[in-house]
Amino acid sequence: MISPGRLLLHTPRIMRDPLSFMVAMTRQHGDVVAADFGDFRAFIVNHPDWIEHVLVKNHRNYSKQTVQFTTFSEVTGNGLLNSDGDFWRRQRRIVQPAFHRKTLTDLATIMTDAADRTAARWRTQPGAIVDIEHEMLLLSLPVICESLFGADIRARAAELVEAVTHALDRVMFRAQLPIAGAERLPLAVNRRFEQSMKVLEKWIAEMIDGRRAESVARTDLLGILLSATDEDGRPLPDVVIRDEVMTLIVAGYETVASGLTWIWYLLDQHPYSAQWLREELSDVLHGRTPTLADLPHLPRLKMIVDESFRLYPPSWLVSRQAVAADRIAGHAIEPGALVIISPWVMHRNAAFWPDPEQFDPLRFDLAKTDKPKTRPRYSYIPFGGGPRLCIGNHFALLETQLVLATLAQQFAPTLAQKRPHVAAMVTVRPKNGLQMQIN
Ligand code: HEM
Repeated sequence: MISPGRLLLHTPRIMRDPLSFMVAMTRQHGDVVAADFGDFRAFIVNHPDWIEHVLVKNHRNYSKQTVQFTTFSEVTGNGLLNSDGDFWRRQRRIVQPAFHRKTLTDLATIMTDAADRTAARWRTQPGAIVDIEHEMLLLSLPVICESLFGADIRARAAELVEAVTHALDRVMFRAQLPIAGAERLPLAVNRRFEQSMKVLEKWIAEMIDGRRAESVARTDLLGILLSATDEDGRPLPDVVIRDEVMTLIVAGYETVASGLTWIWYLLDQHPYSAQWLREELSDVLHGRTPTLADLPHLPRLKMIVDESFRLYPPSWLVSRQAVAADRIAGHAIEPGALVIISPWVMHRNAAFWPDPEQFDPLRFDLAKTDKPKTRPRYSYIPFGGGPRLCIGNHFALLETQLVLATLAQQFAPTLAQKRPHVAAMVTVRPKNGLQMQIN
């Protein structure tokens, strides 16, 4: 058990770099690390069996009443990401059809069109140095908006990316300083939050009103939400629709952009893997834009994405609060205890991932090794697991593969700055962006 005194000593490090702190703690104390914060206890759970226990087998005992999700709710309200219980179950059932595989197949061209637009722009600026993270944010926000809400936001992408970024900056600020009243302090982060939320609220309200004014019903996510009813058969209130729209934007675009950003970084750092990927793309696609039907013929592409999501899982934190008493690996879990599961930390557990810091896409090679099948399921959790598994996981994998296949055929961006520092924000992001040269 890490005592309150020792935690206090560690505070600067926890604030500066929670990822390496948690990795170090699990290497020092084992797969379940207990920490005493005085008025509550926290447990870092870093073994697949116990992760399965929390997320799947005993998931009803673990709620989302944690700082991570309550601060999030300032932006996303009571949307899918934060809600619990019957309300969450009903909402998940309503939203789920928008993510069925069959529906997703129709979205592939939205994704490749977005990648083609980025490629066309990059072709006009060979040798330019760009912030590749910003490029990926600018690419992925229009994809989400068009795919789920039929909204073309290309002309406003930069403005809306900035608004969402400022909203999420405040989520982080509140998570790091969870004291009453911090949201009213006269700080830039609060001011930008208020302004950005106005922009986002207005935009979402216009999108909902615009859709209501249409004569023909559409079947995308917005259409599904507008035609859904609550348990009494009444249309969903506007606030419920707003919360789900905001949730899906926030959950579904920075995550994808973060994943792609780190893939570009890893490909640059591992030229052999980059070349190995380009050979496959060239053999299968011969320079054309990929389609959904190509993906089964691009196993290297999938391995690179899987391994990148292992080393740089965009969502680094999955937190829960214990509802009733429980036991995890011999530890007594009291009601109210905080349980922390971190894909970042789990994916670096050497018992399941030998030489964990090494980028090795062949770990996911289904043809040459049975490792992927014999590895415990919950040793690889970029999308969480159990009933709260990411609803957008297939969407995200599809978009990541299609965008990467489109762009990596034509470009090999190279790092144009020092090695990036990893910042554990709402997603795992390079601190101050990632400058890369377009080649
Ligand atoms: C690489 C990209 C993505 C990653 C790594 C990711 C990761 C995750 C993780 C780890 C969770 C579980 C959180 C928890 O259990 O506490 C989650 C939940 C969720 N994700 Fe994703 N996500 C990604 C993309 C997306 C996309 C594209 C969408 C939507 C279009 C999306 C929507 C959601 C929603 C709504 C939830 C909450 C689901 C629920 O609790 O019912 N995510 N995501």
